[in-house]
Amino acid sequence: MAINKHPETKMKLMLVAGARPNFMKIASIINAIKMHNASIENSTFNIQHLLVHTGQHYDDSMSEAFFKDLDLPKPDIHLEVGSGTHAAQTADIMKRFEPVLLEHQPDVVIVVGDVNSTVACALVASKINYSDNSLTHSLINKRVNRPLVAHVEAGLRSFDRTMPEEINRVLTDGISDFLFTTEQSANENLKREGIPEGKIYFVGNTMIDTLLKHKQTAQKSNILNKLGLLTDNQHPEIRDQKPTTNNQILPYAVLTLHRPSNVDNRETFQNILEAMKEVAKHLPVIFPAHPRTLNRIKEFNFEDYFNFDSVLSTPPPHIYCVDPLGYLDFLCLMSNSKLVLTDSGGMQEETTILGIPCITLRENTERPVTITFGTNILAGVQKEQIISSALSELEKYNSTPSKSVYSTFTTQPSALNPQPSTFNTQNSTLNTQQSFSPSLWDGQAGQRIINILMDQIMKLT
Ligand code: UD1
Repeated sequence: MAINKHPETKMKLMLVAGARPNFMKIASIINAIKMHNASIENSTFNIQHLLVHTGQHYDDSMSEAFFKDLDLPKPDIHLEVGSGTHAAQTADIMKRFEPVLLEHQPDVVIVVGDVNSTVACALVASKINYSDNSLTHSLINKRVNRPLVAHVEAGLRSFDRTMPEEINRVLTDGISDFLFTTEQSANENLKREGIPEGKIYFVGNTMIDTLLKHKQTAQKSNILNKLGLLTDNQHPEIRDQKPTTNNQILPYAVLTLHRPSNVDNRETFQNILEAMKEVAKHLPVIFPAHPRTLNRIKEFNFEDYFNFDSVLSTPPPHIYCVDPLGYLDFLCLMSNSKLVLTDSGGMQEETTILGIPCITLRENTERPVTITFGTNILAGVQKEQIISSALSELEKYNSTPSKSVYSTFTTQPSALNPQPSTFNTQNSTLNTQQSFSPSLWDGQAGQRIINILMDQIMKLT
């Protein structure tokens, strides 16, 4: 392969994003491209990038809000696929992505994460033939005639093939040319699957790059006030219990749920909600509901489990169902919480860095480093196990374990400035003082990716 020798020609990267968790990862890479371009004097080595939004997520709260918060450029190309069955959505993305690739002919296509958009675009890119279009712009030699495919967040495995994401991960990794990994387990998984070591690059975590970049700004969000979580604003019944110390934030938990295995099955979903009802007796549970989950709540008539007002207008105990939040609001909410309960993959990583206990409502995780190095506890989906895991974490925050946080209101260190930890669990290394984080989760992953791509593409010249 060879880079086109025309000095005016720049390396062209095409970045693909489609669903909510993709946007944070793409933001880190775009940031790294900007830094690269600003740092070099010779514009020959500039990187040109194009952003493709597949439209897998399309509600403002699932997409537009993230572009705004993360200062992402408007997508250059929008495929507008929308929702559908897995086959229909994946096929639609592929059909719409192919002409885009042929027209723009990037040198590298970067896909992130494990959503349907990831596998759909990787598959198109790995099989396309640029010579099908006479207008060849690609820098890469005619011998290849296609872009190189880079998968960011490669190698994660839950070993659960009933998860659509697991299928997406395995397939995307199998056809990618660059596999950028976030943790050691991913490197091992890829090697075991026979991926040549030369394709695997351990670079760190782009989602954590974005978190580290925005965590201070997120503290300026007004979301705690809006949700009635500041003790100064509380309903009189709660306000009277305000502690004498300077604790202004009501202790609360954050819940998110969207995995089909949890919310599409009535019995499992109800089981989790019964557990949440118990947790909510100890502290308000704030639940920004994914559209898929809201649909199921209506379908299963589960509305009675929730309160749809703010903590201010209807005091606890309740599970407070609110609209999905933008990136900065959610980061503020999560980082000031006492406990996170979730079936999300990304939040297991984010809570690890924030030092917030995370009860994962799943039987497995593809991110084992969040258990060995982080704050993650796999609780499964059985009611009793969820309740005991959650209460055990809450007890660690209260000097009088049997009391609910409504009555104790113990002053807690902020998640972003944790004080020394005093506890450990048998099953996981739970430590609010993150004296260390998982290796390379240091805010530089995006830059490592760009440096490696530049190096490797140059070597192909
Ligand atoms: C997708 C990803 C999942 C990721 C999650 C993050 C796949 C297979 N799943 O799941 O890995 O963790 O995104 O949120 O790619 N909907 C809306 N508006 C939207 C988006 C979705 O109303 O903007 C509703 C639609 O009813 C849709 C349903 O949510 O059918 C599910 O959306 P979909 O993109 O299929 O999967 P997610 O559950 O969001």
